[in-house]
Amino acid sequence: MRRLLRPAKAAASVAAGAAVLASLGEVAYADSIFSFRRQPAAPPPPPPPDAPAPAAASSGSSGFDPEALERGARALRQINGSRYAKLLFGLMQSQEETRLAEMAAEKVHHDIYWKVKEIEAKRKMGEEYRENLKQQSQIEAQRLRYEDELAKKSKQEEREAERRRDAELVRMQEIGALKREQARRATEQKILEQELQTLKERAKNDRETNKENAISNAKAKAHEAKLTEDYERRMLVELMNGEKEKWLAAINTTFQHIEGGLRTLLTDRSKLVMGIGGVTALAAGVYTTREGARVTWGYVNRILGQPSLIRESSMRKFPLPGLKALKPSSASLSGGAAFENVILHPSLKRRIEHLARATANTKSHDAPFRNMLFYGHPGTGKTLVAREMARKSGLDYAMMTGGDVAPLGSEAVTKIHEIFDWAKKSQKGMLLFIDEADAFLCERNSTHMSEAQRSALNALLFRTGDQSRDIVLVLATNRPGDLDAAITDRIDEVIEFPLPGEEERFLLLKLYLNNYMLKDDDKSSPWSTLLKKQPKKIHVRDISDDLLRDAARKIDGFSGREIAKLMASVQAAVYGSPDCILNPQLFSEVVEYKIAEHQQRMKLASEAAA
Ligand SMILES: Nc1ncnc2c1ncn2[C@@H]1O[C@H](COP(=O)(O)OP(=O)(O)OP(=O)(O)O)[C@@H](O)[C@H]1O
Ligand SMILES: [Mg+2]
Repeated sequence: MRRLLRPAKAAASVAAGAAVLASLGEVAYADSIFSFRRQPAAPPPPPPPDAPAPAAASSGSSGFDPEALERGARALRQINGSRYAKLLFGLMQSQEETRLAEMAAEKVHHDIYWKVKEIEAKRKMGEEYRENLKQQSQIEAQRLRYEDELAKKSKQEEREAERRRDAELVRMQEIGALKREQARRATEQKILEQELQTLKERAKNDRETNKENAISNAKAKAHEAKLTEDYERRMLVELMNGEKEKWLAAINTTFQHIEGGLRTLLTDRSKLVMGIGGVTALAAGVYTTREGARVTWGYVNRILGQPSLIRESSMRKFPLPGLKALKPSSASLSGGAAFENVILHPSLKRRIEHLARATANTKSHDAPFRNMLFYGHPGTGKTLVAREMARKSGLDYAMMTGGDVAPLGSEAVTKIHEIFDWAKKSQKGMLLFIDEADAFLCERNSTHMSEAQRSALNALLFRTGDQSRDIVLVLATNRPGDLDAAITDRIDEVIEFPLPGEEERFLLLKLYLNNYMLKDDDKSSPWSTLLKKQPKKIHVRDISDDLLRDAARKIDGFSGREIAKLMASVQAAVYGSPDCILNPQLFSEVVEYKIAEHQQRMKLASEAAA
């Protein structure tokens, strides 16, 4: 029984201890940082039946019960003394641990609660922030839309202003163009009036001159006829007298015996007068025929003769029947043999051949001619090509040089009109080649141009105003910049003649070696062969293509003319040698000194330019 009571006592004391601890613990919890209410600890085990009544029952009115403490201390002493003390303390410890774990769990729960709260708050903030952003972006979009509209509006206004400006500009340009056109028309009208005036004056002058000429001619003719008549009558009388004397002498000597009869005959004055009259009539007939022929000849010459400005032409000077004209050769153009003596870069040569062929066919196609301008360094073949084109185009051609116009003075205008009037007579169309064009067709404002020259240029402009189906102009110059703008405006094809390249220089050397030293002049007639002193034959030895190519490389910068002259110098050097042999050494010597000469010339030219 005692054995059974002891554990019961121990349990009671443990319970009491626990209650004390719990009451102590309650104080500790109140001090802790957590403010939540502690869960009531598990209800203490029921007190043993013999256990003293709870301390609360015996507590004083102040609420503090010192007995309880004593009881607790006693219980602790009992526990301490009990063999279950260890177990009890273990129990208490695990109880405490459980409580701590619960508290930790509660703390975690609390933390989670706050975290959730926090997250909720953040989510709210996020939402608010998103809402703000949304509103801001809406405001921004609205602002952008507004700005865009503003920009569009201002752009539209700008465009409108620009359109208005453009329209104004166009209007002003139109007014300007109208004014220019009016000025041009006025100038043309003026030129036309001037031309008309000139023509009228010329016609009047011509009429007056013709009248005066006719009167003076008639007077002169009458005078001359009178003189001639007198003279012839005198001569005739003298002749008749001589005859008479002769006859008289003959009659006297031969027929003295019939003196009486003859005297009767010779004294028959009516017969004598009849004889004289017959001879006079014969002389007058001869005179009239001769004068008539002279006047007709002058008329034909005036109407159809070649103007004096033309230096060379395919049209005959006097179109008398039976005389054959100098025919331009057109066959060579189609046969491809044209320009065989002209060395140019292949592309340039092709263009020129093409143009020559097109010019030759223009008339047959009833198309307007295309005027041409050749320009480039001196001696590069402009004149040569223009001549060749003129001769081979199948048209009639006429060549004049610009330098011939200035010396004519006031007559130049008339001469220019003469050329165009004359050129119109050509059935095939006329190629008018004006060499050294800058001398005649230079800028009208230039100070060194005389009034007469200006009028001549105006006359040419007047006659070439429209695209012509009768005349094609080919101008050659080495100063294209000096030409009057109105002239360049009339040009359809502009061709530059550059200095020859190495291959062209080689071909030029070959061409002139052949022309000056290898070719026999077989065109000369037997008569000229007989009459002319024949040149010595040149023997060409070892002049290879390589040697010529080497020379071509060295003579960089030479023009076609310089190369032709170089080969002429080689020819002269060969004729100067005793054996008339051209060998590489002689050739190279001439080439070397010609190069030195060229360089010297270039130096002088650059010094002069500086
Ligand atoms: N491309 C060429 N092919 C063959 N020979 C040429 C060539 N260029 C020039 N020559 C020779 O030079 C000479 C002079 O040429 P041309 O009179 O045609 O020169 P240009 O260009 O009219 O010179 P400029 O401007 O001084 O009047 C010709 O007669 C010819 O012998
Ligand atoms: Mg020339």
